[in-house]
Amino acid sequence: MPSQELFVRTVEHYLAPIKVFLDDPGVTEVMINRSDVIYIEKDGKVVKTDARFADQEAYEAAINNILQFTGRSLSDDQPLVDSRLPDGSRVHVAKAPCSRNGTSVAIRKFSQMVLDIDWLIELGTITAQARDFLRLAVNAEQNMLIAGGTSSGKTSLLNALSSFIPDDQRIVVIEDSAELQLQKNHLISLEAQQPDRYGRGEVTIRELFRSSLRLRPDRIIIGEVRGGEALDMIQAMTSGHGGSMGTLHANSPADTLSRLETMAMMSEVKLPLFALRSQIASAVDLVVHMSRHIGGRRVVTQISEVDRVDEAGQYTLRDIFVLKADDKDNPDKQMQLTWTGERSALGNRGASLSGQHQQWVTDPIKPILGMD
Ligand SMILES: Nc1ncnc2c1ncn2[C@@H]1O[C@H](COP(=O)(O)OP(=O)(O)OP(=O)(O)O)[C@@H](O)[C@H]1O
Ligand SMILES: [Mg+2]
Repeated sequence: MPSQELFVRTVEHYLAPIKVFLDDPGVTEVMINRSDVIYIEKDGKVVKTDARFADQEAYEAAINNILQFTGRSLSDDQPLVDSRLPDGSRVHVAKAPCSRNGTSVAIRKFSQMVLDIDWLIELGTITAQARDFLRLAVNAEQNMLIAGGTSSGKTSLLNALSSFIPDDQRIVVIEDSAELQLQKNHLISLEAQQPDRYGRGEVTIRELFRSSLRLRPDRIIIGEVRGGEALDMIQAMTSGHGGSMGTLHANSPADTLSRLETMAMMSEVKLPLFALRSQIASAVDLVVHMSRHIGGRRVVTQISEVDRVDEAGQYTLRDIFVLKADDKDNPDKQMQLTWTGERSALGNRGASLSGQHQQWVTDPIKPILGMD
């Protein structure tokens, strides 16, 4: 296996046409639609560039080179591949003809600076009150999903929230392609593996999940829930791994639960729908929903608690925070994540909260817990 240094040099050589973007800290994403159509996201705006690869061959050589770094390869059998650059940037490749206008690549640049929660407050992504609420929820071992559209900041928020996990708790992280950078010591990080060209050596997220349970985690963190592992996650959340977290693509907190349901149904274990819904409702305590606004601002738009399934078999959600215009007379004013006035179910745990979690119950969240 060639050394890391050699990879860095060869990747730099092959990616020369886009190196300037990879080196520019203001650029967060490089999107290559085709060898001669390249877009970037810079300072929150997506723009087309003049950059292009010399020809199709040079482009394909560059892609093969990137994939080699993680021992992956593109073929007609494996037209969609995730990989990483030597610096940790995440790469997704969709091969033609699956990608109909030619093989396309998206590079999510590795951010050298981990966005911590206070920085997210400065960026207007979340408020101090919502941070305090989520800190308490993490400490009280609430199971949490961070949902939203593509590139809405889910992984970054998950990263930031993980700092609230007490240091003595053992965390197992499961990812398709390693991306999270949890600032934690007591941590095992597992990454899925794609099969080699002979179909050998595949390790799926579901296999990692099963193995993770034997690694004695206090909490399990799934980078992104995408498939049948949803059922394993739900079952782990309800059986002693409280405080587990993950991200998933969804349009709203309610949509998050129905997507989870659909994904859980992809597993070979078949549960009656009502039973599955009750499991999901008792597994997931909280959904934090995010979206990406014009200009590149990422915001938490909703924090909702999941109650039991009602008699009609529907989920019931309680919105604790929603995004609201903070000045009705001035609709242009930035929207603010605002407490809805609904009390959190965490407040019902008054006695236990006022004990071990007392230090996390700040004045701004006392009314949310009904403790004022
Ligand atoms: N709160 C934020 N404010 C501004 N930029 C952010 C914020 N959070 C993340 N970003 C930037 O947005 C991009 C996407 O972030 P992230 O990977 O966290 O999103 P995601 O929702 O997990 O995306 P995906 O759907 O691809 O998994 C990154 O370049 C990141 O640096
Ligand atoms: Mg993500």
